[in-house]
Amino acid sequence: MRFPSLVLAWAAAVLVAVAGFSAVADASPPPSKFLKVGFYEHTCPQAEYIVRDAVRRAFARNPGLAAGIIRMHFHDCFVRGCDGSLLINSTPGNLAEKDSQANNPSMRGFEVIDEAKAALEASCPRTVSCADVLAFAARDGAYLAGGINYRVPSGRRDGRVSIADEVLNNNVPFPTGEVAELVASFKRKGLSADDMVTLSGAHTIGRSHCSSFTQRIYNFSGEVGRTDPSIDRSYAAELKHQCPPSTDNPNDPTVVPLDPVTLGEFDNQYFKNVLARKVPLTSDKTLLTSPRTAGIVAFHAAVEKAWQAKFAAAMVKMGKVEVLTGEEGEIREKCFVVNHQ
Ligand code: HEM
Ligand SMILES: *[C@@H]1O[C@H](CO)[C@@H](O)[C@H](O)[C@H]1NC(C)=O
Repeated sequence: MRFPSLVLAWAAAVLVAVAGFSAVADASPPPSKFLKVGFYEHTCPQAEYIVRDAVRRAFARNPGLAAGIIRMHFHDCFVRGCDGSLLINSTPGNLAEKDSQANNPSMRGFEVIDEAKAALEASCPRTVSCADVLAFAARDGAYLAGGINYRVPSGRRDGRVSIADEVLNNNVPFPTGEVAELVASFKRKGLSADDMVTLSGAHTIGRSHCSSFTQRIYNFSGEVGRTDPSIDRSYAAELKHQCPPSTDNPNDPTVVPLDPVTLGEFDNQYFKNVLARKVPLTSDKTLLTSPRTAGIVAFHAAVEKAWQAKFAAAMVKMGKVEVLTGEEGEIREKCFVVNHQ
């Protein structure tokens, strides 16, 4: 068995990752090009409390919003970097990221970010970027759903451009993607295969609309009536029971839990589900098809604490993708519209 040595290798990798993470966080003020933990320490010391408070209130009325906000940060970072471009509304002349089929109607939680931003504007006007609000809120979602806490480097600036067509054009990956495609997608953003597997663990909470996997259960490889043989049979039956064939269902109103075993808990159950072949998306099941990603799945399924530490570090890393800093971009006054349009 090569599993024990795998565990050791990964435990070492986690130590290095965690040590590297705190070293960065404790460093003296970096040049303005870089993000910094406590960026608003002097200009808006209560900023992160205000955001957490807004997320806490949202979570109390609907715990599913934690999932929505974590996904929102991912979809923001993968299109023009973590610049809040996902949060901008479409205008008569422009269809924005929000209205890409990757986000509309499935993305939820925009109102939570807008509420947090309104509270921030009341205390510290024009100070905290929407991109930072989203990064803080995603961390708070992970904290409220699973007790995972980490320091979020901040100082992002907001972009002024948001284009729906960019979302699925080599940026946000498709749920039908196979492992090589997913690895390439994350690599384009400076993230590794390990980051990709680690972050996919977010699918331990939240939901999916049926349309993201109906072809897999009803029309596998374009053969009507065929089901992907790499899905657990009783789980496939369960999904079919919940989801009608896509052709009967143009509005796609039905959702299923991404992790039906421990509903709403931000734990490592997702990786156990991948091993048991009880996951709805092709992008989930495909993690078992390469020895390297399969090894990481097995490790996360076995050592929950290691996955939690790696998840925190990978979220911080994802939060740095192509950020705007210093004088770039702007600090939006309302997250859903650019300033002085
Ligand atoms: C590896 C590539 C990924 C693909 C192809 C993918 C795809 C999807 C799809 C299709 C859904 C269902 C959306 C719906 O129909 O409502 C979903 C949900 C979700 N994803 Fe991913 N995802 C990926 C990675 C990630 C990452 C990196 C994160 C965050 C770190 C994430 C967080 C979530 C969360 C929390 C949900 C549940 C959302 C909710 O309940 O509203 N995903 N994802
Ligand atoms: C099945 O898949 C094929 C190939 O992707 C597609 O052309 C066809 O429309 C699908 N049929 C149904 C009923 O979804």
